[in-house]
Amino acid sequence: MLNVTFDSALRVFHLTNGAVSYVMRLYHEGYLAHLYYGKALPEPLNVESFFYETEREGAPQPHGHEFPRLFSLDTLPQEYPGVNAGDFRLPALEAAFDNGSRCVDLRYVSHRVLKDKPALTGLPAVFAGDRDSLTLEITLKEVAGELEVRLYYTLIEGLSLILRHSEIRNTGSKPLYLNNAASLSVDFLEADFDILSLYGAHANERNVERQPLKHGIEEISSTRGATSHQHQNFVALLRHDVTEFSGELYAATLVWSGNFKAAIERSSFDNTRLTLGINDKGFNWYLEPSECFTTPEAVLVYSDAGLNGMSQTFHTLVREHLTRGQWSHALRPVLVNSWEAAYFNFNEESIVRFAKDAVNLGAELIVLDDGWFGKRDSDTCSLGDWDRIDTRKLPSGLKGLADKIHALGAKFGLWVEPEMVSPDSELFRAHPDWALGVQGHSRSQQRNQYVLDLSNPEVRDYIVRVISAVLSSAPIDYVKWDMNRNLSEVGSPAFPACRQGEIATRYTLGVYDIMERITGAFPHILFESCAGGGRRFDLGLLYYMPQVWTSDNTDALCRQRIQYGTSLIFPPQTMGAHVSACPNHQVGRVTPLITRFICTASGTFGYEMDLGRLSPEDKEEVRAQIALYKELRETLQRGAFYRLISPFEGTRNETAWMHISEDGAELIAMYFKMQAEPAARLRRVRFKYLEPQARYEVVSHLHSSTPVHNIYLKEHNLKGQVFSGAQLMSAGITADRIDADAASCMWVLRRVD
Ligand code: GLA
Repeated sequence: MLNVTFDSALRVFHLTNGAVSYVMRLYHEGYLAHLYYGKALPEPLNVESFFYETEREGAPQPHGHEFPRLFSLDTLPQEYPGVNAGDFRLPALEAAFDNGSRCVDLRYVSHRVLKDKPALTGLPAVFAGDRDSLTLEITLKEVAGELEVRLYYTLIEGLSLILRHSEIRNTGSKPLYLNNAASLSVDFLEADFDILSLYGAHANERNVERQPLKHGIEEISSTRGATSHQHQNFVALLRHDVTEFSGELYAATLVWSGNFKAAIERSSFDNTRLTLGINDKGFNWYLEPSECFTTPEAVLVYSDAGLNGMSQTFHTLVREHLTRGQWSHALRPVLVNSWEAAYFNFNEESIVRFAKDAVNLGAELIVLDDGWFGKRDSDTCSLGDWDRIDTRKLPSGLKGLADKIHALGAKFGLWVEPEMVSPDSELFRAHPDWALGVQGHSRSQQRNQYVLDLSNPEVRDYIVRVISAVLSSAPIDYVKWDMNRNLSEVGSPAFPACRQGEIATRYTLGVYDIMERITGAFPHILFESCAGGGRRFDLGLLYYMPQVWTSDNTDALCRQRIQYGTSLIFPPQTMGAHVSACPNHQVGRVTPLITRFICTASGTFGYEMDLGRLSPEDKEEVRAQIALYKELRETLQRGAFYRLISPFEGTRNETAWMHISEDGAELIAMYFKMQAEPAARLRRVRFKYLEPQARYEVVSHLHSSTPVHNIYLKEHNLKGQVFSGAQLMSAGITADRIDADAASCMWVLRRVD
């Protein structure tokens, strides 16, 4: 099915994998035009029908095309548009040359087909794994001859997406500046789209927002040095009729964790250009002769099965072609984290007691969060002093504590924040020039901390050394790798003035370098990334660490929305989720323990509370929850995930989703209702993707008014009832009557024939 053809007479490229087709054509003197991306097309194509040149007032003609006035770069759908050469729309590439030129006009030189998916030096990237792939490399040159661009297009067997990145090489004899180098630019001849994006804030990540595409330019971006809480590096263009399960859409994201910009331009002629890449704001890359800059990889998913189709493709991509290492496919342990249980206030004795209580109830991994090093009794000091275990709190060191936790039969995990330094730390006192900073400007603080200069190889080597020493000093099975501030005053004394515009990008490349070295050296450790919750939940970091702390907000109602939005791109086993105490520490809400459990069970499951302080009844409840989770975790972590009711649409008061095991034999569905309503209707939850003829038995039916450990008290328990797949999909199951806020139900069904 995988095929790349080049019709040399018509000068047409056609890439296909049986799921999608991507068609390009060379016009006139080698302008590379985009003709089509979407559902796979059979050969032979009739390329005359895709596009024709047409006269437009205000659109300039390149030299030699003055008459008839049909050809213009301003109307040509292009693959990688330059700037200042007659196309007034968003450029993909901008450069400033030594002779003062700011003109970028690219023409075709050559192409070749690569059988293997190329890796991207120093960057995370999708790999083909067990599937076949084909990559088309097209070389373009700038007409003045100072710069060459290689565009890469990869298709993977069976995946409804295309991967793109570019390499930009200085082929002149003088240095030049790259001011903008997108990973992806794609033109559509139409503009009848909605834009769907994910916005948020700390503790309120990835809200789903959809609105019609307006004329002009829309931008979704980050200049904060990381993907950001504010915007996900993701955008989708939806036909207006797209629903969760039907309709055609294009969705783009980056395998990248730093500043980014997605820009969408709807032109006055009603075509649309989407560009995505490193944010040009703050980006200025100095390219010496023969040096090359590689952009991060962009993923462009095509779905004709609505948002669900898109998510299934992303989830497969993450599971099979992005996360690496022995934990990538392994079942994740039930963890209990100390942060919301104790904050900075703990010692060895209290942690061992905390662990004992958790292990007694079934926990498998005990995580000691912030506060174990230097004099860190608050967030005002000690970041960077990783080699100074706080022996006031941990008299027998990390090893002593880890050994005690292991003796209880649990794994031991630790929090670190290696990219940061506190002004009040031995590290900063010894190396004040190791923090990002700009001459003549004092540094801003956020959470009382500065950012280490990861563009500087000396700083990176130090971090790798000191963190490796910590991880070797004790039997550590899990690491939570945090990053708690945005980057400001971005500059580095390690680079000359002409390279200061590279520092934000070099910071992210530096993060990748240290993560590659540390995760490579400790392959047995399960790494979870975190950045004040979900500031850096992206495909870039998932290449190094297979799960992410989804949000600092652990409230079960907020989490429904956060996890729902996150699931658009990321599968459940990447989403850290913890049951926490009530009233909730972020929003003060009181929710039933069962609702907290049901929502959390859809992520990498754990608790973030002192289980020893629960009432005897709640302890029994937690014991039953953990036992049930273990029974179901294969399906919850490895199965397919489908959203059923959106908290961002309709009444915005309900959420439902479901998991189906890989073999289709087990189905777990969850339904949540945020606020009770008077005279509420009975709600049917209709399932998806079951075998219509198969029969499914309800083996568990939870409801938030009845504890898990005593579910048989429930009046309308469906346990033991058998339904056909067809009935579950067409009629569904009617949710229990809800008479309380923050209510939920969960049904577990197994195939009986
Ligand atoms: C960040 C994390 C939290 C916790 C604290 C510790 O806010 O997101 O989960 O680890 O840091 O300081």
